[in-house]
Amino acid sequence: MSSRQSWNAQDYQANAGFVPVLGRPVLALLAPRPGERVLDLGCGHGALTREIVEAGCEVVGVDHSPAMVAAARDSGIDARLMDAAAIAFETEFDAVFSNAVLHWVKDADAAIAGVVRALKQGGRFVGEFGGHGNMAAVVTALAAVLARRGVDIAAVNPWFYPTPDDYRGRLETAGFAVDSIELIPRPTPLPTGMKGWLETFAGPFYAVLPEDDRRLRDETIDLLRHSLCDGEGNWTADYVRLRFAARLLDRRTSR
Ligand code: BEZ
Repeated sequence: MSSRQSWNAQDYQANAGFVPVLGRPVLALLAPRPGERVLDLGCGHGALTREIVEAGCEVVGVDHSPAMVAAARDSGIDARLMDAAAIAFETEFDAVFSNAVLHWVKDADAAIAGVVRALKQGGRFVGEFGGHGNMAAVVTALAAVLARRGVDIAAVNPWFYPTPDDYRGRLETAGFAVDSIELIPRPTPLPTGMKGWLETFAGPFYAVLPEDDRRLRDETIDLLRHSLCDGEGNWTADYVRLRFAARLLDRRTSR
């Protein structure tokens, strides 16, 4: 959800269609019940949102990307353009669900405060996103490419990968009881290799440099080949997920 990240629903499906597929366990953790009103925070093109609708829920999807909102609407979802750090709902959802989005939201406390506002008392917040150590090799390679050009990755990195203790603390401070929170290492085969992954997700790092993205991408790929590409040319990304389930006990957040 960085302003420098752009999204294209077709490219996303080709390069990262595994994201909603591998998000199904989070949906199981949500355990949506017919008749519930659910907010899908960062619905993307709506692959998992549709499954919540099919479970009998009344679902609103929000996303920061106009292209993704348009794609979700095309498939019949009530999708709205909204920033995850500025959720504009008041006490109307039984549950907030989020898959593979919250690592784009640097102001994690603002996102959590918005979820608190959106939930009814006792409502559930269930999600998964990149956790501590997520894409460590990729981040290190991007840091090296930037450092060679005098840029500190810390100044441009749009990703937030907290530890379970960090995120639990934020949730509890905002008034949630945390039922579960864990890091899940999930090596993930990349259907279009590292090239496709970087094309879809690494824009914010390359955008700060005057060079052609293709050259920067090739350099990143050369650095990563040793650790993430096997002898047959298959790429596996070093994903680590942070998965959690929490219930809103009382509204303690002041934001
Ligand atoms: C993730 O799902 O962990 C992720 C996706 C895109 C960029 C960074 C991380």
